[in-house]
Amino acid sequence: MQSDEDFLAYVHSLGKVEAVDGMPDEYRDLLIKQIHMHAVSEIMGAYPEREWVSRAPTIQRRLALNAKVQDEIGHGLMLLRLAEDLSRPYRRGREALLDDLLDGRVKFHNVFHLEAPTWADAGVIGFLVDGGAIITQAMLLNSSYAPYARMLKRIVAEESFHMQHGESVVLALASGTDAQREMLQAAIDRWWPAMMFFFGPREMGAASRRMLDFRIRTMTNEELRQKFINRYVPRIQALGLSIPDSALRKDAASGNWSYTDPDWDWFSHVVHHNAGPMSQARLELRRQAHRDEAWFRQAEQLAATFAPSRGA
Ligand SMILES: [Fe+2]
Ligand SMILES: [Fe+2]
Repeated sequence: MQSDEDFLAYVHSLGKVEAVDGMPDEYRDLLIKQIHMHAVSEIMGAYPEREWVSRAPTIQRRLALNAKVQDEIGHGLMLLRLAEDLSRPYRRGREALLDDLLDGRVKFHNVFHLEAPTWADAGVIGFLVDGGAIITQAMLLNSSYAPYARMLKRIVAEESFHMQHGESVVLALASGTDAQREMLQAAIDRWWPAMMFFFGPREMGAASRRMLDFRIRTMTNEELRQKFINRYVPRIQALGLSIPDSALRKDAASGNWSYTDPDWDWFSHVVHHNAGPMSQARLELRRQAHRDEAWFRQAEQLAATFAPSRGA
């Protein structure tokens, strides 16, 4: 078994790690933390837009939104399998990993705790949140953990459809009536500060810094946030809409944007205590779905128990 120093040198030289390879416990634990949070965020990310599936303005929008919601749950389940694989030494399966979400032991992204009160919010979530997720997940394509990077290839491809769907809703509203443009501007005003928090604090915590050391991730929170601002300021301005931040300025020398700090304490409280305006209602919907699907999980287990083993 190689030493932890050898392992670090290996990942620094862009070496890739497979599920069957030996790895330091710290690396395994950080991967579980990252992928577990990612998985439950995908699942909870389906809920704000799910609220709009039955209220979408046309059948085409309804179909597209329904497909997106299904994709997000699929992303969550695929990622839970990865986390389950890594959790084998701890004998924690998907059931336990999902219970962590339902019982509030694992965090999910700040944006999915918030309200989506209008149809414009459903579009802006695809436009900004999926757009932000693409930036984070494209960075993770270079992750040292090869199964995660491979899975993200497919996920990022689908996120790009989600972003295009959101953009299409946003473009339709931007070229609509005054009332539609006002509704769109109000949604941008609601989601922009949440997106400033989305990438995490400027000063990264110890676990995130260790993830950089291990090349589980390859960019800092601030680098990701700057990439997002760079990409979205011109897009939003091109629509004749404003960005609700008077401090937004690009520094010519560094190329970095200054921005007004989101309410770090409030968002952090929301994420750590599931204390956002929609956190508990959406978690309750998830618990209800979990209870309703119990019969299927039991049937699946029974089928696995009685299935002839391979080669028999
Ligand atoms: Fe997703
Ligand atoms: Fe998505």
